[in-house]
Amino acid sequence: MLHVSKSALILSLILICLGLVGISCRTEIPFEEDFDDMVGNPVDTMMTDSTGVPTDTTTMESEVACDSTVIYFDQQILPIFQGSCAYSGCHDAKTAQEGIILDSYENIMRRDEEDLIIPFNVEKSEVFEKITEDDPDDIMPPLPNNPLSEGQIQLIRTWIEQGAENVSCEVNTGCETSDVSYSQQIAPILDTKCRGCHGTNNPNAGLNLLDYGTVASTGKSGRLMGALNWSDGYVMMPQGMEKLPACDLNLIQAWIDQGALNN
Ligand code: HEC
Repeated sequence: MLHVSKSALILSLILICLGLVGISCRTEIPFEEDFDDMVGNPVDTMMTDSTGVPTDTTTMESEVACDSTVIYFDQQILPIFQGSCAYSGCHDAKTAQEGIILDSYENIMRRDEEDLIIPFNVEKSEVFEKITEDDPDDIMPPLPNNPLSEGQIQLIRTWIEQGAENVSCEVNTGCETSDVSYSQQIAPILDTKCRGCHGTNNPNAGLNLLDYGTVASTGKSGRLMGALNWSDGYVMMPQGMEKLPACDLNLIQAWIDQGALNN
């Protein structure tokens, strides 16, 4: 699902070019109108005029089947923000460092003081600049937290290039538990949901969950599922967030039952 096909790349390039041509007039469009225009248009059927402004006004169905060329906010982008930015002490609703809250589409797209995300415009999106910042004093998440991975940065880039829409899709694969793969199914879940607090740089509770050996031993000891299932005697994980979806929990449990292999 994370694979970005050639056609998506070409589409993105076209959108960037159109976006560049259109920047001057796009920035004059009042935010509300601009925003309403784009929300609710499925990317795959979206048409743009010569300035890159969507012209198709088809209403989106709430859940569509996942299309591998589209980056879905709910499934692919929000979890990254939740796992690496929107936690206590940083950009959750309670702490709101610098007034920035990164826990929902509405908050991430807010444009009052800073332009956190500008649809179609990666270069002008403050969030993108921060996650790719060279200066170690300015990069987000701040050190010693783990930086986002290359893959996560690419997802956010492509999502902005596709218009930074609030799109969601029905995931109907990935819950098959008969032959679970660590690299394909387990590592991506932990990378998205736990990386912010259990990375190489900042292994809370001494657990670097980007490391196979640690995941396997925590899995076999029961500590991993104890924390994820919110069982008595364990700290509830992921900290300050909702429980992982049943599908993720089943996959991780099945992987442990199958020997917690490095497969
Ligand atoms: C917002 C930061 C944060 C996130 C995100 C997070 N953790 Fe934690 N985790 C912590 C902290 C802090 C502790 C130590 C808590 C304590 O000891 O009170 C911890 C402890 C744990 C423990 C040990 C619990 C115990 O009772 O022994 C496990 C296992 C764990 N985390 C797994 C995970 C997994 C798996 C994820 C992702 C699905 C995750 N955590 C996401 C901050 C986080």
